[in-house]
Amino acid sequence: MLDWDDPFSAPVTGSEPAPAAIEDNSVADNSPATEVEAAPAANEPTSTAMPASVPEPDSASVSSLPTANVAPVNPDDKRVINGMTDINQLAPFKYPWAWDYFINANKNHWTPLDINMAQDVHDYRHNLTMEERHVYENVLSYLTTSDILAMRNIGLAVMEKMSAPELQIYQARQVYEEALHTWTYQHCIETIGLDQSEIYNRYRVVPEINQKIQLANNRLSSVLRSDIDLRDRDELENFVMAYTFFGGIFEGCWFYNGFSPIFALQRRGLMKGTAEQLQYIMRDEVLHASFGIRVVKQIIKEENVKLDPIKVQQMWEEAEAAEEIYASYILRDPILGYSKEQHIGQFRFIANRRAKQLGHETPFPGAEATLPWLDEQANMRKEKNFFETKVTEYQTGGALKWD
Ligand SMILES: [Fe+2]
Ligand SMILES: [Fe+2]
Repeated sequence: MLDWDDPFSAPVTGSEPAPAAIEDNSVADNSPATEVEAAPAANEPTSTAMPASVPEPDSASVSSLPTANVAPVNPDDKRVINGMTDINQLAPFKYPWAWDYFINANKNHWTPLDINMAQDVHDYRHNLTMEERHVYENVLSYLTTSDILAMRNIGLAVMEKMSAPELQIYQARQVYEEALHTWTYQHCIETIGLDQSEIYNRYRVVPEINQKIQLANNRLSSVLRSDIDLRDRDELENFVMAYTFFGGIFEGCWFYNGFSPIFALQRRGLMKGTAEQLQYIMRDEVLHASFGIRVVKQIIKEENVKLDPIKVQQMWEEAEAAEEIYASYILRDPILGYSKEQHIGQFRFIANRRAKQLGHETPFPGAEATLPWLDEQANMRKEKNFFETKVTEYQTGGALKWD
């Protein structure tokens, strides 16, 4: 059954289909770090590979096409990046797990208009303390900026570098989902009646939010260039590091952990509509993170990439430092049921999980879960009656087995 926290699992296996890639969660956390790093380069381009660009046949010239160029794509020739096969042929798949991600992503379909926000309007005006409003507003301010960054990263910097269509298909869905998330935050901001100009601009005037965005922006800027040649080893390593950052940290930790202050309000019966919206988003983000991690591992295997473990550890520590500054700001005054110590502790715990999935050394040894209820938010067990407010047409999501 689908584990929304860790839906990818099977070790990377060259051209072999990954069995039950989405639903079997028994392998991912057990994958030894050496498995990826010791993997040989796979599937070098062969002399029979198709050119990257194949002209569209037209009726007048079909009979004159050279037969050597019209054979179907051989899946063994596909590569995540630097591939030479026809990008317009979806199947046969080399990465069937990527198609499974696309199918599963479509089972989590909603719009923010499906969720009743009336009680949230009342809660914000009458039941939240000033300190809780500070948390709520700044979390939304951070998230909405982040989701636009996430959309631009996957849509503009990553997707164009993929050379297998089954990967691009899921990433196209991911681009849509990031836009949907932005709509969701906008719907919350608008419904609650917050000052939109002020909220959207906050990441530029609050240094504690800005420094997290800057870290991400620096990674994005380094790969959002049209002149990148991923056959250059330095460019390749930088691209892998950037994708690792966005999949493993930005989505896998910062987003995963970023919703929890609102979930803490929800657990006290406050801002439940917003929290329900974020639960939907969290499901998407878990898939984004695990897909990104899987793609990164596949690139590392195919291209025989050796990441510098010192740079990797530095990346984790930078992310932790940035998160600590952010948490100290949004939780500068205590609120009931949630603290900055819990927030940063949970970050370290989740970071260790993502690092293990990526095959990195454990960046924060000994970190323990400080928000043991957070994983339940991702898995959203049916007894939470998550769908009780949903209109009946949305059967695809309700038909899933969540646990
Ligand atoms: Fe998102
Ligand atoms: Fe995402």
